[in-house]
Amino acid sequence: MKLNAGVMGSPISHSLSPRLHGYWIKKYGLDASYLAREVKPEILEQTLKDLPRLCLEQGERFRGTNLTIPLKEKALEIVDILEPSAEKIGAVNTVIVAEDGKLIGRNTDGIGFRDNLAEKVDVASFKGATALVLGAGGAAKAIVYALQEMGFSKILITNRTEARAQELANHSGGATNSIKWSEKETYLRDVDLLVNTTSLGMAGQPSLEISLEGLKTRAVVTDIVYVPLKTDLLLEAEKGGHVAVDGLGMLLHQAKAGFEAWFGVKVEVNADLRAYVLEGLKK
Ligand code: ATR
Repeated sequence: MKLNAGVMGSPISHSLSPRLHGYWIKKYGLDASYLAREVKPEILEQTLKDLPRLCLEQGERFRGTNLTIPLKEKALEIVDILEPSAEKIGAVNTVIVAEDGKLIGRNTDGIGFRDNLAEKVDVASFKGATALVLGAGGAAKAIVYALQEMGFSKILITNRTEARAQELANHSGGATNSIKWSEKETYLRDVDLLVNTTSLGMAGQPSLEISLEGLKTRAVVTDIVYVPLKTDLLLEAEKGGHVAVDGLGMLLHQAKAGFEAWFGVKVEVNADLRAYVLEGLKK
């Protein structure tokens, strides 16, 4: 039977996920579909309950869905089984329908972050290293979790609204500390990985004002922003001789686990997929 999955959120029309998953469906010749569904938090639970039946009426089997803003937190209270990744991050980005119909909630953003870095650097070398995370929103939560899993021994979090940085450090526990936004540059000399998780530097947003002068040359810099693909932060990092990792790969890599769970096919992120998704960004 044809398999069905998708992405839910509100708004959803600009999501790149249908293009991304559509690429793999075509590449592997699967009898499957991946649809964008406009869903508000109030109807998420009912939608997830109804979809198996509605899909069956179309001759399809509903396998699960990605979730995006504003549904990721709402799903925590809806799924039947919350996997540790989703529980620790405090958000579900992937729902999988189990054989018995139970809904499994997972978060693959942390894996996406790690695998994106792993394209350019040996992530095992970060064991015992120090990271500085700019921002303390939803994306930062997943990234701090990933950094802990990767074995960083010190994770500094800084945010314009200091209370949110403190809250994230308290919530995350082990090896995390919050520092003042105005003092972030003074910590750079100790940092092995600098991550921007804020929206600063994104097209239409204010720029991220930070000098990388104090950063060790071998420190790695990454940004979750991918419009533009090369943010000013990454351009400055490249000028300073740092390895710079753009944010598009995190989107691509977070998608793998859901696809594999829904459709039973192991997929990979390659240059062709990147180019295809980037083309979608221009539309
Ligand atoms: P997401 O879930 O994508 O991380 P978010 O929760 O809205 O989105 O978080 C956006 C991040 O960008 C926050 O860390 C936010 O800082 P605040 O907590 O102080 O709002 C940060 N951010 C957005 N605009 C900013 C600005 N002009 N200066 C500094 N930080 C900013």
